[in-house]
Formats: sequence, structure tokens, C-alpha cells
Amino acid sequence: MINMAVFSSHNGSNLQSIIDACKNKILDMRVSVVISNNSNSVALKRAKEEGIPCFHISSKKYTNSNELDNRILILLKEYNIEMIMLAGYMKKLGKKVLQRYKGRILNIHPALLPKYGGKGMYGEYVHQAVLKSGEKITGVTIHLVDEEYDTGSIINQCKIDVKNNDTVESLAKRVQKREKSFLIETLKLISEGTIKLEV
Ligand code: GRF
Repeated sequence: MINMAVFSSHNGSNLQSIIDACKNKILDMRVSVVISNNSNSVALKRAKEEGIPCFHISSKKYTNSNELDNRILILLKEYNIEMIMLAGYMKKLGKKVLQRYKGRILNIHPALLPKYGGKGMYGEYVHQAVLKSGEKITGVTIHLVDEEYDTGSIINQCKIDVKNNDTVESLAKRVQKREKSFLIETLKLISEGTIKLEV
């Protein structure tokens, strides 16, 4: 059983699908701790409701980025975390966490990277850009996390059709639905060892 930390800034719907898949024994993993930079996030509420230890850690509380990094590392150690999932986490991780968990930090992105990634490419901005470019296919990417936004090695991708009459909303809805099942499929491949991380 892999002990996982999930980092999430807002709604946490991907967090919820991981929790559900763990509860339903679809995944041989455990969400042992949830961390959010946003004290009002639905993600923290979801974790509380599920009885999962959760923490608000932000630069408002820790003005020194080194302290923030250390606080996160202490929690990850305390909960014996082996792997980190960034699911809608809007902050960059600090150097120490990146180093300590190198090769074991994943992010989910709602497009086919390396296209439509990077700073400012999140949420509806991604789908807006995909539609503006006239893409016929978009998708979901799960990748390793490095120092930059959305640039780490790609672990798994799935494709999703863009329809002629798609709006940002309709495309977002389709991607958001698919990304959850794809995330669970990918985590399952990791927990079974088909996709190898240094866990
Ligand atoms: C998802 O679309 C994910 O791909 C992206 O951020 C969004 C998070 O949604 N990285 P939620 O907070 O899990 O509902």
C-alpha cells in the first residue's frame, strides 16, 4: 500500500476521486495527508469530512519560503509519505521537497503537454487556448514534477476529441469527467508496478 500526500488548492474533485478509489479498494493506496495553500479550499473540507489529516500551509503563514518547505517536509515525514500527487495545486513546490521526492511527485494537467502548459495555463485558460488553436484533439497529461510548471517527464496521456461546436465550458466538462477516471487508471498502473516510479 502506497502512502500518498495530495496537494490541492481549490475544489479537490480529483482528490475526492482518489479518496473514493482508495476506499473502494480500486487503488492499493492511502491518502495519508492533504495539504492546501488555501484555507477556504473545498479540498480541505473534503479531507476533513473523510477524516484525513489536512493542513493549510501557505506563504501567508510561512513568509520565509525555506520555512514553508521545511514545514511541508516535516509533515511528509510524519505521515510516512512515499509519493505526492498535485491535483489542482497552484503553487510551485520548494527545492527541498522536490529533491527529497524526486521522481515521486506527479501532477495532472488538463491538456496534451507539452502544448498548453506553463505559467498561467490552468483551468479555462487551457481549454480556451486549445479551442483558439483549432485543435481537434486535446487530452489529459500526468507527469513528473520538476522546478517549472508542467515541464517534467510525461508518465501517461489520454486523448479526448474536441467537437466542432465545443465551447470552453463544454470542453472543460468533458475533460474534467475523463481526467478523473484517467487519474485513477494511471495511479492503479503505478500501484501495480506497471508504471514504475521510485516508490
Ligand atoms: C484539474 O482540471 C486538473 O487537471 C488541474 O487542476 C484541476 C483541479 O481540479 N491540474 P479539482 O480541484 O481536482 O477539482
